[in-house]
Amino acid sequence: MAKLAINGGTPLFGNNEYQVMPWPPVSEKTADKLREIYLSRAWSFNSPVEQEFEKEFAAFHDAEFGILMSNGTVTLECALEALGVGPGDEVIVPDLTWIATAMSVRYVGATCVFADIDKDTCCLSPEAFEKAITPRTKAVIPVHIYAGMADLEKIIEIADKHGIAVIEDCAHMHGGKWNGKGCGSHGAIGSFSFQQSKAMSAGEAGICLTNDQKLAERLYRAKHIGYSRYDKQGQAGTPPPQDLICHNYRGLALQAQILRDQLVDFPALNQKHNEFHDLLEKELAAIPGVRLQSQGRLATRQGYYSQGVIMDGDGFEKIDSEKIRAALAAEGIKAINTTYGPVRKHLLFNLKPEDYRLDPAGYANSDAIIPHMMVIMHYGMTDMENAARFAAALKKIADNKSELM
Ligand SMILES: Cc1ncc(COP(=O)(O)O)c(C=O)c1O
Repeated sequence: MAKLAINGGTPLFGNNEYQVMPWPPVSEKTADKLREIYLSRAWSFNSPVEQEFEKEFAAFHDAEFGILMSNGTVTLECALEALGVGPGDEVIVPDLTWIATAMSVRYVGATCVFADIDKDTCCLSPEAFEKAITPRTKAVIPVHIYAGMADLEKIIEIADKHGIAVIEDCAHMHGGKWNGKGCGSHGAIGSFSFQQSKAMSAGEAGICLTNDQKLAERLYRAKHIGYSRYDKQGQAGTPPPQDLICHNYRGLALQAQILRDQLVDFPALNQKHNEFHDLLEKELAAIPGVRLQSQGRLATRQGYYSQGVIMDGDGFEKIDSEKIRAALAAEGIKAINTTYGPVRKHLLFNLKPEDYRLDPAGYANSDAIIPHMMVIMHYGMTDMENAARFAAALKKIADNKSELM
């Protein structure tokens, strides 16, 4: 008789047990402030609330300047533009990320080069990055993916040796610190997303961080159709540099207000995510063949979009993670996703072969790990008992693996 609920057995948990935090969070206090902004008609064009949020978010990540934009894809595009990346240049990105990272390279007319991931953090492998460098390489975009931090120390050392700019994609790493210093402030520019599902969310929006005043000014002009930060609306004081393509990628005061309020609560939320990680690590230690995506060698405070769980030993390597995820759902475990998969295989990444470059040696780590990885979404990581529930369900699956083969 089947034991696993997916095959007709009794589910381990009922509908009300593994609960997730409703996301994004809402509050009456923020709703009141949004009403005020709405009635003020000051919705856009570098409003005071936008400037405040930029300063606060930058300071939280140890950066000097913040430039709010409409999402975390155009932040990457503007970062590349601000650094002067364009046609003829190559930009190295990890094989595992959301397609936006790779598409931003295409938007500026450069060639995207995919490099393999590290088998523990699942972020860009420093060795694969170095191997992918050519005389045309102008930038690299390490992505801090799910709950892993790219090895910034090694990546920046290699990049500096070759004169390559580093753009940190921190769409998953709000609040993260590497070696005591905030994510997004280590390379030339850091990029964050505040899209609906992210750990800080305004539905849409993104921000670039930098410590370089010149880059801050170029980023600002790039998102504000060429205006300088010091210009009043409709009164351009000086022209943008001719080499800089400028867009309208402005953010809104309404988004900034939502994010300002979330930032006040964020350290406590992040603390819960970190505690959840530690509990989960202990719980999963009892299940052979299962490991957590590791945090990064010099991570001093982790951010969590989600927590990667890799099931690649003790027979699990014969079962696709999609099957395990379905089995977990049947046991009552919610908000577990599969990974994005390798970008080069994503249905929406449909560029001409000449528009990107692959490693002829292949992608050993990402091809081995991604089919056996799933992610626990951050909004399931605030109830500490969910760690034990998740582990119990995975243990049940481990004990009855043959039912899934
Ligand atoms: C790693 C990564 N980079 C960039 C982005 C793009 O952000 P947005 O959706 O705000 O454009 C995302 C969003 O999902 C992401 O996950």
